[in-house]
Formats: sequence, structure tokens, C-alpha cells
Amino acid sequence: MAVSISRRRSKPYRKQEAKQSYFHFSAIYNFLSRISVALFLLILIYLWCSFSTIITGNIVHVCFSSSRKLHSLYCLSAGTHPSFEIPTSTNNHSFLAPRIFEGSNATEPVKFSVGSNLVTSNNGRYDEEVANAVKVVEEHLQVHRSWRSNRTNAESCSGEGIYVYDLPSKFNKDLVGQCSKMIPWQDFCSYLSNDGFGKAIIANNKFGKGWYQTHQYSLELIFHSRILKHPCRVYNENEAKIFYVPFYGGLDVLRWHFKNVSNDVKDGLSLELVNWLQRQRPWKRNEGKDHVLVLGKISWDFRRTNNSESPWGTSLLELEKMQNPIKILIERQPWHANDIGVPHPTYFHPSSDNDIISWQLKIIRSNRKSFVSFAGAARSDAEDSIRRILIDQCSSNGRCKFLNCSSAKCNEAESIIDVFVESEFCLQPPGDSPTRKSVFDSLISGCIPVLFDPFTAYYQYPWHLPEDHDKYSVFIDKKEVKEKNLNVVERLSNVSSRERENMRRYIVYELLPGLVYADHNALLYKFQDAFAITINNLLLRGTRLAT
Ligand SMILES: *[C@@H]1O[C@H](CO)[C@@H](O)[C@H](O)[C@H]1NC(C)=O
Ligand SMILES: *[C@@H]1O[C@H](CO)[C@@H](O)[C@H](O)[C@H]1NC(C)=O
Ligand SMILES: *[C@@H]1O[C@H](CO)[C@@H](O)[C@H](O)[C@H]1NC(C)=O
Ligand SMILES: *[C@@H]1O[C@H](CO)[C@@H](O)[C@H](O)[C@H]1NC(C)=O
Ligand SMILES: *[C@@H]1O[C@H](CO)[C@@H](O)[C@H](O)[C@H]1NC(C)=O
Repeated sequence: MAVSISRRRSKPYRKQEAKQSYFHFSAIYNFLSRISVALFLLILIYLWCSFSTIITGNIVHVCFSSSRKLHSLYCLSAGTHPSFEIPTSTNNHSFLAPRIFEGSNATEPVKFSVGSNLVTSNNGRYDEEVANAVKVVEEHLQVHRSWRSNRTNAESCSGEGIYVYDLPSKFNKDLVGQCSKMIPWQDFCSYLSNDGFGKAIIANNKFGKGWYQTHQYSLELIFHSRILKHPCRVYNENEAKIFYVPFYGGLDVLRWHFKNVSNDVKDGLSLELVNWLQRQRPWKRNEGKDHVLVLGKISWDFRRTNNSESPWGTSLLELEKMQNPIKILIERQPWHANDIGVPHPTYFHPSSDNDIISWQLKIIRSNRKSFVSFAGAARSDAEDSIRRILIDQCSSNGRCKFLNCSSAKCNEAESIIDVFVESEFCLQPPGDSPTRKSVFDSLISGCIPVLFDPFTAYYQYPWHLPEDHDKYSVFIDKKEVKEKNLNVVERLSNVSSRERENMRRYIVYELLPGLVYADHNALLYKFQDAFAITINNLLLRGTRLAT
């Protein structure tokens, strides 16, 4: 029996809804595998009702069939979505870059497709704007790179203080306290345990020490816990070069994603935060320029505007007063210079240099039985998605391992990492938004990521990944896959084993330590982790601002 209910909705799905769906459908699946079919149907009905009535009211696709449980749940909650939608775009192949450049007199926001070959229109002015947009992104990244510091762990903090605001608890701790009600179908609390690392993975000697079931939205807690213990922390605001605002904006927005509340309700806490900050002396001194927020979700989640058709998200980052601070995010809005991307958290949180070294040795020696692997789910109706093509290519090729996230538990460390440590290349097509946690999971497994879109990593992480992306990844334009049906496995066979090994050594020995978020009590001497790199660069920028 297959039931299919479809509703048309007026606009493309937003990536964030889909991101949500990624973890919720996996969780639902885990749960469902243990309960009866009858209960399953009841839950489906419940979900269907709740989604169609409380998310946005204009669900595109609601479909389910008893033989494709996961897929259907996926449809249910997220339908399909173009990869990089900002609402209001009517073209699935493009995404909208609002206010691309400061001072542009374009009356309409610019739309363009994302890819190395951005020019798809025969309109000259449009092409020009697209080229200009890419130039602007690259300029921002150069500015960000100019703040790369070579500060070492042993260095003293003279003149480089970090002041951490003691915010009222409604801005952080109280949000954590709402974890059980944050998502209707899942208790989010376990992910927030261990200061954001989630549950420890113990009964598993396979990986070694320092592994947790970490959720991709946990950066706010991880950074906050670390910054409180930072050796450069000061308690006198006059000694500070940077001001850390520990607002859990991601948790704030997460709690409204699946509830029918007005925009005023969603923005309430953001406005309170701005009011609170404006009363602080350090804020007034520099209008927030030396202030930093770490937000654990993607930038678009905080960029709802009055023009947005979709009620998705808050408008935190669109508020005028929020333009000056630096925002550290797992995915930046490419045309905002003060958005800076940092790695998605992985499952690995080492406590010592030795934890890192043991892992490096383990994966460099790993027997990589699969030439290529892909862990993911198809995106049912996204025309733009190359996932379906990749899945077809992969599942019909003996050298490619497909981990079907429509039926496997892809949100658990073990299933993903097991595949990645045994693969030479890991395919990383864009998903619900351009960036993927999976890119970082593959890097820390020594699996060379194959990227199809420059926004997945190259335009995101100037502090943690080198400008020369050939050192750590293979790029295959998604257009070539889509339009020419390029065979990805064959293309990868052209990479010599020597090139492969060079890349892998670079990834494992040079990049890996800087991509992980170490334990809250870690003592690292040899390595700088992703957190240390971020803070060192912020300190360098802060010092330059002050002089
Ligand atoms: C959301 O709430 C508003 C106000 O209570 C109501 O008018 C609207 O119908 C609700 N939307 C949905 C989809 O339930
Ligand atoms: C504004 O738009 C007009 C017409 O499209 C163009 O000629 C002019 O150069 C633009 N000005 C700026 C500052 O971009
Ligand atoms: C980084 O180190 C190099 C060589 O040790 C030094 O010349 C340079 O000034 C340092 N850069 C910064 C920003 O400290
Ligand atoms: C992945 O799993 C789903 C759900 O079980 C199934 O419908 C689909 O055919 C699978 N895809 C492949 C390529 O095996
Ligand atoms: C592999 O390399 C050969 C020789 O350079 C070239 O002719 C071929 O087109 C390449 N294949 C792919 C899939 O890139």
C-alpha cells in the first residue's frame, strides 16, 4: 500500500526546514523501528497534522507510503527544497542574495545559481552582477584571512583580554532548560549534555577516547564553556580587546521552528538582547565592533526580513544594531563580511595531543576498502539536486559504497565514521543548504571530500581551510554531473594514488587538529584546535581594531 498526499505550496522550501528534518527523521526512524505499525500510523498522522498546521501553513509536499517510511517522513516535514533557498525566489535553480553589495542600486535582489560557472543568463547586466558577487565574497575572505594569527598556546595574553558578558539567564541557560519542548518529536536534551558534546560513546573501543554523539547545532554551548576557561579571559572590561556575548541564538530560533507563533514572538529575545547590549558601556564605546557572537545554526536562520514570504527564523542578524559585531557561524551568509564560518562540530573531542596523534595514526593506516562513498539521502523533488544522480552512479558501481540515509542511522557517529575511515573519497553534494557537517566528518576520517559547489566549503572557512583547496579536496562542478552526466567514480579514478596520498597526509597531519573542538578541559601543547584558531584570530583582529 502506498499513500501519497501532495499539496502544492507557493514557494520553495527553506533549507533550514530541511536541516531540521535531517535529524528529526533519523530520530523518528530509530524510534519507529521499535514500535508497532499502528502506532507508527498514529504518529504519522500526528506529524502530518502538526507540520501542515504549525510550521508554515504552506507545506509543499506531504507524502508517505508504508514501504518507504523514512522517505515519507522526510516529505512530510520538509518536502523538497532547493538547495540554497532564501525565500521569495521562484526559480529553484537559483538563490537569492539579498543586498549583495553595499551601495548597489539594484532595485531587485540578485538571483543566481551557485556553482563555479555562475553565469547562466544571457542578460549582460545580470552576468556582471553575478561576477561582482563572487568578487565580493572573495574580498571578504581575503580580509578574514588577513586576521590569521600565529599565536601559540604558550603565548601570554598581555593586552589581549577577552571579556565574557554575564548575560541574564533568559539568553542562554533558560533556553537550554527548554530542551525537552524544543522539537515536538524529540527530546533534544541529550544533545546539550556535556556542555554541548552530547552523550559520550563509551562501549566502543574502535575509535579511542573523546568521541560523543555531538549534534551539529551545538556550537553555542561548546564555545561558551571553553571561553569561560580561556587563559586570556579578563573580568575588567577595560583590559579587553574582544567582548564575547554568550547568547544561544540558535536554540532561541530552534524552539520556534515548529510552532505557529507570530514574528513578534520569534524576535522577542533578539530585541531584548539588543536593548540589553546597548546599555553596556563597552558596547557604546565601539558600537559593538569588538563584540562577538557564536551562533550554532546557519546564518539564514537569523535573517528573516519584512520582505520574506516565509515566516522561517528570526531577524536577529537583520537588526541594524547587529551589523557591527562579528558573528561566528557554521555557515555564513556569503555577502556579509561580519559573518565568519567555522567548522561544524564533529563527534571527536580530544583531551590531549596524544588523543589526536593516536587518531591520526589510526586513520592514516586505515584499510580503505571503498574507493568512493556517499552517505546521504535523495532529495525527492529538488530538480536542482544532483544527489539522485550520484546515488544512481554510486549504487551501480562496485567501487562506490552508498550508505542510504533513508534507512540507515546516519546521525550516529559510528555508522558514518565507520564508512568514512574505510573510503578514499567521500562525495559531499550540497544538501539542504550548501554546507555539510559531513564534510568535516570526512576530513577527520582522512577521507578526501569531493565537493560540487564552492559554497560548500571554499567560501566559508577562511581560518580553518587553506585557500588552495586542491590540497584537501577534489572539485567537480555539479553542472557537469547534471548536464553531462559525468561519471564521478571515473573522474576520481584519474587522481593518481600519489596525489591521493599527498592530500590525505595534508588533511590528517595539517588540517585535522584544527578542525576538531577539543574537550572543555583539554590541555593541548602541540596543536591548535578549531576553537583556539578562532579565538586567536579574533584576538588579532581585536588588537588591530583597538590601535
Ligand atoms: C497560526 O496562528 C494564527 C493565529 O492564531 C492563526 O490565525 C493561523 O490560522 C495559524 N496557522 C496555522 C497554519 O495553523
Ligand atoms: C545604477 O543603475 C544604473 C542603471 O542600471 C547604472 O547606470 C548606474 O551605474 C548604477 N549606479 C551604481 C552606483 O551602481
Ligand atoms: C607569524 O610568524 C612569522 C614568522 O615567525 C612572523 O614573521 C609574523 O610576523 C607572524 N605574524 C603575526 C601576525 O604575528
Ligand atoms: C534507500 O532507502 C529507501 C528507503 O528504504 C529506499 O526506498 C531506496 O530505494 C533506497 N535507495 C537505494 C539506492 O537503495
Ligand atoms: C581521465 O584522464 C584522461 C587522460 O588525461 C582523460 O582523457 C579523461 O577524459 C579523464 N576522465 C575523466 C572522467 O575525467
